[in-house]
Amino acid sequence: MQRHRGNIFLIGFMGAGKSTVARELQSVYGMRLIEMDEQIEAQEKMPISEIFATRGEEYFRQLETDLLESLRQEENTVVSCGGGVPMRERNVEAMRGSGRIVYLSAAPETVYERVRHSHNRPLLENNMNVEYIKGLLEARLPRYLAAADLTVRTDGRSVKEICEEILRERTDES
Ligand code: S3P
Repeated sequence: MQRHRGNIFLIGFMGAGKSTVARELQSVYGMRLIEMDEQIEAQEKMPISEIFATRGEEYFRQLETDLLESLRQEENTVVSCGGGVPMRERNVEAMRGSGRIVYLSAAPETVYERVRHSHNRPLLENNMNVEYIKGLLEARLPRYLAAADLTVRTDGRSVKEICEEILRERTDES
């Protein structure tokens, strides 16, 4: 389908594996990579935690929207989205307009194991436990599912397997 232009938006909760999968799609499959958090940090010249602390969450959310809306001309690009991106309908529309949206799912316990040592995720900084992750994930799940063209489970699976599933679907659909 025309709108895909080979672009893939990876959405999902923090620690779902978006960055890891995106890097694999870049290195093994030659896709261009856009890592939203990194790009925003480079642009603002400060880590996400500092952006939240000094400018506030709304400011950060607007940077996400601006970045997504600037990607309309991309081709053969994988975008690793911040975990909160699909919470804004405007972001979902921007993604729909230029690519396929793939939701990477992970259980709260898996997420916890993957992010427990991170200190650059302000939403989890004082809430680093499975209960909190579970609650936030459940609250966000309807949005993730509504946005997704495809859901790929990541628990206990290799990056290679996950990428193969994503690209298999792409060949069928685009
Ligand atoms: C966020 C997820 C983070 C980052 C910010 C907010 C969220 O990205 O954008 O801390 O709201 O879920 P990752 O999903 O890449 O960790």
